[in-house]
Amino acid sequence: MCPSDRDHQITTDEAAEHNRSAWNSFRRQRDAGLVNIRNDSAADIIAGRRRLDPPMLTLAGDVAGKRMLDLGCGDAAEMLEWALMGADVTGVDNSPTQLEAGRRNIDMLTQAGRLTSACSLILSDILRLPPELLAGEFDIVYSGWVTSWIGDLDLCFQNVRRALRDGGVFL
Ligand SMILES: C[S@@+](CC[C@H](N)C(=O)[O-])C[C@H]1O[C@@H](n2cnc3c(N)ncnc32)[C@H](O)[C@@H]1O
Repeated sequence: MCPSDRDHQITTDEAAEHNRSAWNSFRRQRDAGLVNIRNDSAADIIAGRRRLDPPMLTLAGDVAGKRMLDLGCGDAAEMLEWALMGADVTGVDNSPTQLEAGRRNIDMLTQAGRLTSACSLILSDILRLPPELLAGEFDIVYSGWVTSWIGDLDLCFQNVRRALRDGGVFL
């Protein structure tokens, strides 16, 4: 390591970019069958297997008809579970390959006739959400297994607050 490397303070954008490359690479390896961490999300859901923790479901209450934002949705595994319970879910992730997997999972459940509520995917960094997601219109913001990857939690939670309507819930 040269001194200039050692002295370099990595920015949150740089950290997010490293992270993004890592998640892109993980997804490509997983899709090529090189890592076998868990089953395909849509197939799991069709088989009745669930990933959302029961305490999380209790906290969320009845989500039917609620507008929900899933920050760091990955391959849409959890947002699809919320959608099956009737929530209209917008998923955000900064990894294009994760979102491609999410699109495949949404399509698979749609073709299986299981999806009746709206599901949309947006490519964005959580720290740089587009204004339409920060307009205080969501009833629930959910983020599962993501905050450990975020370089600026103050900004992350400010964005959560801006995304929520008054009285909205962050899970
Ligand atoms: C452990 S996965 C969780 C995926 C999903 N919530 C689940 O539990 O199945 C973390 C996800 O966060 C995404 N992520 C990490 N940092 C991000 C950032 N700054 N902005 C948007 N997404 C991010 C990654 O691309 C990855 O898909």
